[in-house]
Amino acid sequence: MDDSIDLEFSVTYRHRIFFTEDAFRTGNRTLAGLFGGAKVIPMVDSGLASARPQMLAAIQAYGRSEGVNFTRAPLVLTGGEAAKKDSAVVKAALAAIEADKICRHSYVLAVGGGAFLDAVGFAAATAHRGVRLVRMPTTTLGQGDAGVGVKNGINTFGKKNFTGAFAVPSAVVNDLALLASLDARGLRDGLVEAVKVSLLKDPAFFASLEKDAPALARGDLAAVGRAVRRSAELHARHIAGNGDPFELGSARPLDLGHWAAHKLESMTDHRLTHGEAVAVGLALDLLCARDLGIFPASDAERSLALLATLGFRTYAPEMHLEGGAKLLTGLEEFREHLGGELTLVLPTAVGASTQVHEMPAAVVRKAADELRARDVQPCAARS
Ligand SMILES: NC(=O)c1ccc[n+]([C@@H]2O[C@H](COP(=O)([O-])OP(=O)(O)OC[C@H]3O[C@@H](n4cnc5c(N)ncnc54)[C@H](O)[C@@H]3O)[C@@H](O)[C@H]2O)c1
Ligand SMILES: [Zn+2]
Repeated sequence: MDDSIDLEFSVTYRHRIFFTEDAFRTGNRTLAGLFGGAKVIPMVDSGLASARPQMLAAIQAYGRSEGVNFTRAPLVLTGGEAAKKDSAVVKAALAAIEADKICRHSYVLAVGGGAFLDAVGFAAATAHRGVRLVRMPTTTLGQGDAGVGVKNGINTFGKKNFTGAFAVPSAVVNDLALLASLDARGLRDGLVEAVKVSLLKDPAFFASLEKDAPALARGDLAAVGRAVRRSAELHARHIAGNGDPFELGSARPLDLGHWAAHKLESMTDHRLTHGEAVAVGLALDLLCARDLGIFPASDAERSLALLATLGFRTYAPEMHLEGGAKLLTGLEEFREHLGGELTLVLPTAVGASTQVHEMPAAVVRKAADELRARDVQPCAARS
């Protein structure tokens, strides 16, 4: 007998992102107001903890003054891309969640960079099949992009984010003051995602980045804060409002430049940060779009000029490994990561984009050659 049961249901999510300064200052209720007396296990990125030696004590003092029910002193776990290179951080986070009896009504508070949040977020998403997570991204890239999204994951089989889950955090708290301890490279990194999202969606934002570029390049925190704020908003609005938050379709409409970026991150063994790799990938995609005849040359020049003013280098010698063949495997890996048909987003103007399903190897090779020929390392990128 043939039979079936075919049901349909939907679940409503809320995606809240708070912007504040000095989140752990006595009297700042942004964070404390989220927990309502439930248990909270705090976990902190090791790189952040060493850059801010007072931070762990400040978190504990905040817990006491604001009545947050912390289960322990902050647990410091490896930050940076090392957090994602194997399952050690995920396992340590899971062990602490188990030991502290964190349930689906309690919280993990994860404070750190995008990589740390990806690893701890994966632990939170899988412990008891999902406990509540409050993310506090502490890098420009985290606050403007990675931390305000709904994905987590670690790298396995040499592939970026191969193991991970979609999980909407309970809340995200962006504390601008935490960015002050980043070095010039860290401050710059997230700006490339602001350029990317402005190029795809918001010409006025792109123009404001051009105007602010000298201040941004100097690491002016107010200008960085403005860029990060709008970048976070555009990324989050896209996720909440474009009908495919969990990327069930074949398209990744925010991933301009990312097919090459992900490949370059692994090819360079993370010598390039995510932001630096995206800058190269973005430049490559811009030139490809120009050569495919869909993006005006003047807009491509404008975009490359902005990246250069911000201090990004737009070439990596690894692009020419094996005559470019290795880089090109990134296209298939990108398709495979999402499944379905290859779908790349490319700009058609500053603030507008389209999708293509083919990227001829010759176009990519020509663009890579051009980036090599144009390569002048910006002073800021030499550090
Ligand atoms: N989940 C997503 O949707 C998503 C989106 C984009 C990127 N990502 C991922 O995010 C990762 C990159 O994140 P990132 O750019 O934040 O870098 P990162 O997490 O690697 O952090 C960079 C370094 O800064 C340190 N650090 C963090 N905060 C600091 C602070 N305030 N002061 C001083 N040092 C600090 C970290 O310890 C680390 O050493 C990549 O793995 C990327 O794939 C995820
Ligand atoms: Zn990115």
